[in-house]
Amino acid sequence: MMANLLDGKVMSQEIEEGLKVRVAALKEQGVEVGLTVILVGDDPASQTYVGNKEKACQRLGIASRTLRMPADTTQEALEAAIMEANADPSVHGILVQLPLPRHLDEAHALALILPEKDVDGFHDVNTGRLCRGQDCVVACTPKGALYMLKQAGIPLEGKEAVVVGRSNIVGKPMALLLLQENATVTVCHSRTKDLAEHTRRADILVAAIGKPRFITADMVKEGAAVVDVGINRVDGKLCGDVDFEPVSQKASYITPVPGGVGKMTIAMLMDNTVAAAEKAVLA
Ligand code: GUN
Repeated sequence: MMANLLDGKVMSQEIEEGLKVRVAALKEQGVEVGLTVILVGDDPASQTYVGNKEKACQRLGIASRTLRMPADTTQEALEAAIMEANADPSVHGILVQLPLPRHLDEAHALALILPEKDVDGFHDVNTGRLCRGQDCVVACTPKGALYMLKQAGIPLEGKEAVVVGRSNIVGKPMALLLLQENATVTVCHSRTKDLAEHTRRADILVAAIGKPRFITADMVKEGAAVVDVGINRVDGKLCGDVDFEPVSQKASYITPVPGGVGKMTIAMLMDNTVAAAEKAVLA
């Protein structure tokens, strides 16, 4: 049987409708929501992602500013830009697009962003709070992936969840979120032995590997919910980390690429930005 589609396009549109109402309510109070994006260098994928974030801000009436800095930007110049945005009360969210050019110290730069303006949820304070199950800004991609599972009513408590990938941006926070939902979580990675033995146990399988069509049907349990975080370009076409057609014959739920988690990442960034503005108003 064909799996049910977890449709990121539909779900993100619903989220945006709710956000428009919240943005309008802030406007009524005289607050224009502001997001500053810092983009260093000219990585084509990053340019596309930042363009999509700018478009989402436009749709919602959020004032977005993108600081495009050259590839040879110094650490000092990057940090000065972050500090300026920190000090600007019209900026509620700050996002430094990753990856940064290799000569820059990413961890140091991210640690400078005020945790309450860290709409990516990458600051040590936010990752630490997530780890402890405390209220925090949650990274957009795992937050969006969890939203899709919960919105579809997929049970998580007591279920076997397997996350393939251990990045700071997706794999680790995804595992923590699933743990918070009382799933039994396994994190697999490039050194995992017998990967398929793990993935075949998964009721919930999250693929965040970065290799096109890596998860094949023989690695998936019948009836599993499969979340594909991958965005890969093969012969000019986008595809995920999951071999979509055959896996969708076996899974009960699956996210497409494009039109899946990627759309949710943007929606969650907008949600984090609006929430940061709402908290600033109350502070
Ligand atoms: N690069 C790839 N994904 C992301 C993301 O979610 N946030 C930022 N800042 N950079 C990224």
